[in-house]
Amino acid sequence: MQRELIVLSVFGTRPEAIKMVPLVRQLEHAQGIRSLVCVTAQHRQMLDSVMAQFALRADYDLNLMKSGQTLTSITTGVLEGMEGVLQDCHPDLVLVHGDTTTSTAAALAAFYRQVAVGHVEAGLRSHDRYSPFPEEMNRVLTGRLATLHFAPSEGSRENLLREGITENVHVVGNTVIDALRLMVHDGYRFHDPALANLPLDEGRWILMTAHRRENLGAPLESICRAVLRLVEDNPEVHVVYPVHPNPRVRQTAYAVLGNAARVHLIDPVEVEDMHNLIRRCDLVMTDSGGLQEEAPALGKPVIVLRTETERPEVVEAGLALLAGVEEEGVYAAGSLLLHDGETYHRMSHAVNPYGDGHASEKIAAIIQEYRRSLPD
Ligand code: UD1
Ligand code: UDP
Repeated sequence: MQRELIVLSVFGTRPEAIKMVPLVRQLEHAQGIRSLVCVTAQHRQMLDSVMAQFALRADYDLNLMKSGQTLTSITTGVLEGMEGVLQDCHPDLVLVHGDTTTSTAAALAAFYRQVAVGHVEAGLRSHDRYSPFPEEMNRVLTGRLATLHFAPSEGSRENLLREGITENVHVVGNTVIDALRLMVHDGYRFHDPALANLPLDEGRWILMTAHRRENLGAPLESICRAVLRLVEDNPEVHVVYPVHPNPRVRQTAYAVLGNAARVHLIDPVEVEDMHNLIRRCDLVMTDSGGLQEEAPALGKPVIVLRTETERPEVVEAGLALLAGVEEEGVYAAGSLLLHDGETYHRMSHAVNPYGDGHASEKIAAIIQEYRRSLPD
């Protein structure tokens, strides 16, 4: 009989956790697989919130997060921490997700021990090495290190093919849709009092998030100024903005929007509240990757607060507008969606370019197939 395959899933930030938990749950029930989890805790509170929501416990916790952490300190912390974890549990396969510094450093640590790597959400590319930074290079490097590639869309598969990565590339959809299926309910009541107390039945609601490194400072300030003008010029509009805990994000968001009427700055909310909040809002403005996938799946138009996107499917399908980060562009995109009913209607029909919500099952089946292909 073939021995068990030990699969170690490694993640460290909020979005990786949200997108990996549905897969970890599948692997826990998959025959012939022993599933282990290592969190780097590149994020602490936001990671713990997701772990608690899904009642998932980690087998290993590198507890890395520091205020003011740098890319170098995260990378070296993951490399050094992973060495001990890999020596301890001897995995056959390490799974990483997306484009964070945790994923690339964990993939490299696995490579140094000649352990195969599976890359979930593989093949996204903006084709600009400095935007998003450092994520574009992180995902290119992880793509080179990985043996199994789980691409969310045909476009991401083609990106890998163009880079000469032709073997073991599987289009499976995005596990974020699996997470949404678990989280979104009719008649949902918010847990967080900061959401439960919002007058969501009055007026029109914009859900906003922004945190990207390349937007810190002047671009985020321009974005916030545009949002302020939108609220001032449209008395029926409210904005809810769960602000990322990065002090550089908080400083700008509170400085520009802290005293604005009908702008509700709140702390990050747990994922179930967030997914149901997307559904209750009219429009999403964001520089987040995950929200560009979730909002279209829930029929909400997205204004992307960036100059490029690695998720062209949503722009091509007419579900998102790439607004850039200049005040005028963001203001114009917001005004268009608030005043042009036809455009709003066109952009808000639920089409989901990222699969049927069964990506985790597909990945688990491919990993089982991989196990069968290995020598005894
Ligand atoms: C990281 C990822 C980015 C991802 C984002 C999701 C990298 C280089 N960046 O960026 O790809 O889109 O996560 O949110 O991998 N903090 C807390 N508590 C938390 C989390 C963060 O206080 O739970 C604060 C800390 O001060 C920390 C800072 O935020 O130093 C920045 O965190 P970091 O992971 O370095 O960068 P992000 O911008 O979150
Ligand atoms: N999210 C959340 N609570 C919040 C803000 C975001 O649960 O207060 C979720 C969001 O729905 C998405 C993910 O976090 O699933 C996106 O994370 P983030 O924007 O931090 O990272 P990115 O997707 O840009 O890498």
